[in-house]
Amino acid sequence: MKGLKNQIAVVTGGLGDLGFAIASRLSEEGCSVVLLDVAPDTEAKASSIGARYWQVDISNEGAVTAVCAAIAEELGKVSILVNAAACFIFKGVDASAEDWERINAVNICGTSLITKYIVPQMQEIGKGSIINISSVSGFIGQANFATYNATKFALRGLAKCWAQDLAPFGIRVNTLCPGYIYTRAFIDSCEKLGLDIEAEDRRAAAMHLLGRQGRPEEVAAAAAFLASDDASFITGSDLLVDGGYLAK
Ligand SMILES: NC(=O)c1ccc[n+]([C@@H]2O[C@H](COP(=O)([O-])OP(=O)(O)OC[C@H]3O[C@@H](n4cnc5c(N)ncnc54)[C@H](O)[C@@H]3O)[C@@H](O)[C@H]2O)c1
Repeated sequence: MKGLKNQIAVVTGGLGDLGFAIASRLSEEGCSVVLLDVAPDTEAKASSIGARYWQVDISNEGAVTAVCAAIAEELGKVSILVNAAACFIFKGVDASAEDWERINAVNICGTSLITKYIVPQMQEIGKGSIINISSVSGFIGQANFATYNATKFALRGLAKCWAQDLAPFGIRVNTLCPGYIYTRAFIDSCEKLGLDIEAEDRRAAAMHLLGRQGRPEEVAAAAAFLASDDASFITGSDLLVDGGYLAK
């Protein structure tokens, strides 16, 4: 894809299945990639794709400031930011103040903080692409998903506001909205709830026109496109990678 070679790309939640698939694809396309995650990189995933890794909680403003400065100093200025980190809390009207604080701190505030400290680097080089990873859950209501879906709607709202703020600086901001993707998180949640993984996979598959869950590489391909100059006239937009989930 056009314009990705030698760009510096930051992927938050980079140790998660989707963040890692996006980081891998950007690395293959010639970017210098940085993975940011609150979890330690115990499996040396970053070095396996030639990327750098910093452990940081994106909801901690001091830590985010320090990491963004370190990236600029050690690698150069960032032109691609993929906001994939997420806290998963699924509650309905019963959500507590603590639930809201925890999920908002990462999904809304944390995403906003990392963006705040990367944007000046993009402004200095006069270009940038920011991609918020929302979800089909950012478009619809789902029972007992109020906490999660509210933040996924918010990520779309943030992207549309930032697209307006940042267009004069040559920075594009878009949202990528996956359907159900077959990931470790999916398997873990089946195991946690004592559900049969194959039966759950079939149930999830039936929700999509294409009759299956998506693959992380399919989300990564769309992220690479939005990051690239092939998407040079796309900003403030939502790109669905949902196998037709929302078309049903
Ligand atoms: N997997 C799916 O089916 C699916 C579908 C639609 C949207 N999404 C979205 O894609 C993104 C990635 O999902 P995933 O399935 O890879 O989940 P995941 O849990 O595997 O990855 C999320 C990563 O974010 C990190 N993280 C959490 N809190 C953090 C913090 N405070 N600071 C830094 N990092 C933090 C976690 O450690 C984890 O590695 C999320 O935004 C999710 O909402 C996923």
